Amino acid sequence: MAYDYDKLYRDTPDALGAPSPAFTGFFEELGTQSLDVLDAGCGQGRDALFIARLGHRVTGIDISPHGIRDMLAAAQRENLDVTGIAADLTTWAPDKD
Ligand SMILES: C[S@@+](CC[C@H](N)C(=O)[O-])C[C@H]1O[C@@H](n2cnc3c(N)ncnc32)[C@H](O)[C@@H]1O
Repeated sequence: MAYDYDKLYRDTPDALGAPSPAFTGFFEELGTQSLDVLDAGCGQGRDALFIARLGHRVTGIDISPHGIRDMLAAAQRENLDVTGIAADLTTWAPDKD
């Protein structure tokens, strides 16, 4: 049985802590203009929010509605360019436009 991330996120703010140094280092060294980034399985958005703070546009998708809720609330507080989609990535397909 799959781990219930939605229950974890429902009960625990910031459940997975800060992004890993390897992850943050990669994006900090990218040194590029604003990108469109897809975070597949974004959870509560710890990575998506970090990326958006660097000036990129991020779409985060997760099957957990509580994860998406928390990510969008944080993005709104900081006025970050983050779109959240609660969907199952095994069946989700992007809009054509
Ligand atoms: C280990 S967590 C990592 C979350 C996030 N990337 C992070 O580092 O904080 C895996 C995530 O994948 C999501 N997930 C698992 N299966 C999924 C599916 N079929 N579609 C969308 N999200 C899924 C879970 O809800 C969970 O948030």
